[in-house]
Amino acid sequence: MPPPFGEGHRDVTFQCDSKTPCSPLFQVSKQISRLLHVAAFVVIFVHIVSAEKYQAPYFIHQCQRSDPDINQCLQFAANTLVRHFRSGIPELEVTEVEPIQIEEIHLALGSGPDGYRAIFRDVEAFGVSNMTVTGVRSNLNSMEFQFQFFIPHIRARAQYRSSGVLIMVQASGGGDYWGEYEGVRAKVYFKARKEEANDLTYLQVDDIKMDFSVKDIKMGIKSQQDNAIIEAALNLFINTNGQELLKEMKPSIKKHLLVTMRTFINNLFGRVPYEYWIIDE
Ligand SMILES: *[C@@H]1O[C@H](CO)[C@@H](O)[C@H](O)[C@H]1NC(C)=O
Repeated sequence: MPPPFGEGHRDVTFQCDSKTPCSPLFQVSKQISRLLHVAAFVVIFVHIVSAEKYQAPYFIHQCQRSDPDINQCLQFAANTLVRHFRSGIPELEVTEVEPIQIEEIHLALGSGPDGYRAIFRDVEAFGVSNMTVTGVRSNLNSMEFQFQFFIPHIRARAQYRSSGVLIMVQASGGGDYWGEYEGVRAKVYFKARKEEANDLTYLQVDDIKMDFSVKDIKMGIKSQQDNAIIEAALNLFINTNGQELLKEMKPSIKKHLLVTMRTFINNLFGRVPYEYWIIDE
């Protein structure tokens, strides 16, 4: 075994101190050797830093901008993110994703003093985190993205207060609302702008739109008034007209979801710079 490159060896070759000064040549070669070591260290260090700079955290799947199938890559990346969101991402201070909460949803049917009005409060929806991203369209030049989602089942509950006439019965009152939504499809479009900070690029939402559809709706109310016949009539009406009622509630639902989604996306992009999502070369 060759002796380790170590003290003994070096002591003999380069020994010099205040008592036995090194020859100038030795001193120069020692300086050069030290410089080379420093240079090598700097090179290695810079290399590690630049490689690590954009090394994506575990919940991000990076996509190449030049990838001809970038939309498929973004779809995979979005599904990776969703999967991690389901169990929480402490790095993003996301621990609980279920349920989605919406403060208030409005419903108005008909006009005039007898028009039916309902307000649903403290809406909680369970199941959204079971979503799959089914399609992506993107334009990285204009920073426009469209994501399509499928959610197999959403279960919702809320408190409601209503006034006015529905199916010719006085439907004023309040109570509990429940809903089961099967086969939910949603489309979210957003346009982002880039903001530079600390040599990194952060995306922020400029414009966002969404739409959704539900294949099958079951819903009902449990009123506090305890008029079983009226309640049964209302529930029958609500269930046979689920799609129409949803259509009337859509603007209000969308408005609230858009605020929630904009905040969510901005929070995500505010914490994870663009360079971690997309490799630009
Ligand atoms: C998500 O889907 C699984 C499997 O279908 C189901 O067991 C679970 O309850 C769903 N989660 C929510 C929050 O609905």
